Amino acid sequence: MLAGSTLRVATRPTFGLLPILRRRPLAAYTTSSRFFDPSVSAVGYQRGNRMEQEIDVRAAHGTGPVKPPGSDSERTAMTLNENVYSLLTSTLSKFTLRDKVAVVTGAGRGLGLNMAQALAESGVRGIAILDVQQDIGDQSARDLGQQTGIDALFYRVDVRDADAVGQTIKSIVDYFGGIDILINAAGIADSNIKAENYPIDKFRRLLDINITGTFITCQACATHMIASARGGSIINIASMSGTIVSFPQEQSCYNASKAGVMQLTKSLAAEWAQYGIRVNSISPGYMDTALNRVPALEAQKKIWMDMTPMKRLGRVEDLNGLAVFLAGEGSGYMTGANVIIDGGYTLW
Ligand SMILES: NC(=O)c1ccc[n+]([C@@H]2O[C@H](COP(=O)([O-])OP(=O)(O)OC[C@H]3O[C@@H](n4cnc5c(N)ncnc54)[C@H](O)[C@@H]3O)[C@@H](O)[C@H]2O)c1
Repeated sequence: MLAGSTLRVATRPTFGLLPILRRRPLAAYTTSSRFFDPSVSAVGYQRGNRMEQEIDVRAAHGTGPVKPPGSDSERTAMTLNENVYSLLTSTLSKFTLRDKVAVVTGAGRGLGLNMAQALAESGVRGIAILDVQQDIGDQSARDLGQQTGIDALFYRVDVRDADAVGQTIKSIVDYFGGIDILINAAGIADSNIKAENYPIDKFRRLLDINITGTFITCQACATHMIASARGGSIINIASMSGTIVSFPQEQSCYNASKAGVMQLTKSLAAEWAQYGIRVNSISPGYMDTALNRVPALEAQKKIWMDMTPMKRLGRVEDLNGLAVFLAGEGSGYMTGANVIIDGGYTLW
């Protein structure tokens, strides 16, 4: 049964639940298929035994409209049992964040909150959430602390305010003794504004939050990472809109801001490699978060899903695995990289 469920989980993102024609034991497998192949042959090897499976793809098509995966579903984070570390191989231990301290901006909700949960479940001893919204930031830190047992702090701060961010980072360093990981997820989007009508003050505001705010937090954390000589990992949340022009909504400023975040990331990576600070960016595609849950975008979401090979929006937790990987030693030789997580949107 495990074999069947493994296969279903692995293929679900592209095709939905697939009927399995011939069920045989299957642990690991490889497939070779194009999206519209009528069938997919799967080959697996379990303790040296070869296993095959044929999957009817046609039956999976036409199963009705693709539905968004639902709202920013609330997820309860889990406590990591300390005993697990002694059981890990050296490879797997590089994917844990034991005793690290993390700062996550924009973690009052959405992608930032989910990545903060993932870091907490991977071993960090402390997390500081920086967000401009008092109520959700406070609640997120409280939940994170209660659910995982880690030390979780919340600071109400606007990432545009360099003095406030500087003081906040100093306070976090005083409290925890240092910072090892920074994730910059605070950001805003303006969509459906034609370039010829874009109000200049609105344009400046977005750049100030998405680019300058990211830089301010990077600078404040890196200053302490450099002084401590412990290095660190910085992860900036850019967007696939920094690489392609999103469609059909006009959002020139957002697209430009995320291209800026990607180039900022590369520049900081080059400058700070000498201090052992790695700087990478994640570029999500269309994600099902509050940012996109506004009436003006409802119709456009159908177009986004249709243009996405995986036929769905990203789930709010879909960046978590990469965030943990980039934060830890497993990605120790990786810096200045931009990794796209978009369900295949930028392939077509
Ligand atoms: N949702 C998507 O489809 C998508 C796609 C690509 C990239 N992104 C990027 O991912 C990041 C997180 O997006 P999300 O979907 O979770 O959005 P979200 O709106 O759910 O969360 C963003 C958080 O940032 C906070 N924030 C906004 N401005 C701030 C400021 N000036 N100072 C401090 N905090 C501030 C908000 O209060 C909020 O809690 C953003 O940078 C966004 O551009 C999102």
